[in-house]
Amino acid sequence: MNVLVTGGAGFVGTHTAVALLEGGYGVVVADNLINSNVAALDRVKRITGRDFPFYRIDVRDQPALETVFAEHEIGCVMHFAGLKAVGESVDIPLDYYENNLNTTLTLLRVMKKSGVNKFIFSSSATVYSQDNAMPLTEDGRTGCTNPYGWTKFMCEQILRDAACADKNLSAVLLRYFNPIGAHESGLIGEDPRGIPNNLMPLIVQTAIGRRGQLSVYGGDYETPDGSGVRDYIHVMDLAEGHVAAIEYCAGHSGAEAINLGTGRGTSVLELISAFEQATGVSVPRVMAPRRPGDVAELLAGTQKAERLLGWKAKRGIPEMCADSWRWQSNNPMGYQA
Ligand code: WQD
Repeated sequence: MNVLVTGGAGFVGTHTAVALLEGGYGVVVADNLINSNVAALDRVKRITGRDFPFYRIDVRDQPALETVFAEHEIGCVMHFAGLKAVGESVDIPLDYYENNLNTTLTLLRVMKKSGVNKFIFSSSATVYSQDNAMPLTEDGRTGCTNPYGWTKFMCEQILRDAACADKNLSAVLLRYFNPIGAHESGLIGEDPRGIPNNLMPLIVQTAIGRRGQLSVYGGDYETPDGSGVRDYIHVMDLAEGHVAAIEYCAGHSGAEAINLGTGRGTSVLELISAFEQATGVSVPRVMAPRRPGDVAELLAGTQKAERLLGWKAKRGIPEMCADSWRWQSNNPMGYQA
């Protein structure tokens, strides 16, 4: 079966393309490259020894998307393409709503015209409101604090309503916790444009000397060492969760939200120490005030993923740190030569 991977040149998209190709699936990538680099796709080909078609298109361009479906027999769509920076979404909310919603709507329209009815959506733990107990389960209360989170929430609702109207449609809404790490080859990894938002890219860029020091946002949270606790999941575990979701899609209809996390929490200070231990490289850091909007702790409930997908994260924090560092040290400036 061919899987259309939108945003397939991005961080999670490339790693999922590797897992799909190694799982015997065909891959077709559509990406407009506004936040990714086509070189990443050559690396995916190097890792897997497999070739695949790439369309440099904006998924909102319906005629261009229809061409993709006309030229390939697509069995499932994995939708990663979208804007994903929480802070940026507060500054340019209209771009976030227009992009993240219209890509999803256009895909669903073309899928319906083409008779394709399996949709795997890149959702986020950001859809959960901040008044839930930990670990977060899929029936937890939702409610967002930023436009990015609301776009994910609204896309989930679009998919629920579409699956209600069309009993053939099967949608899996994968709620990511904190994806970090890189493929063990060191050939692909996270390559954010400009100043990274997320912790691990900042750790590795500080470690390699691209940044002077790391600011630890908050040391006074109600956590064991006072710094923020998150559920970090290896990006290859996340990718394998997507492959497992295809098989679930094949046997079910409707829309199903499923967490992809480990169920284990790691604080900022613990992650920095684990990174230094795994790599032997020090990370200069300074304690700083809390970042507005951050919560003390986010942990995934993992039972539903185990039950429905037969999937569980396998890789631990040391491997996430070592793999992140291998990518960064092999590619100090990311994919830009
Ligand atoms: C992790 C921890 C920070 C930077 C975000 C999105 C979420 C998802 C994952 C897309 C927090 C601390 C960070 C720094 C720090 N993305 N930190 N110094 O905020 O948990 O989640 O990315 O789906 O939607 O909200 O991830 O990596 O930004 O922060 O101390 O320079 O690291 O306070 O405790 P976050 P993050």
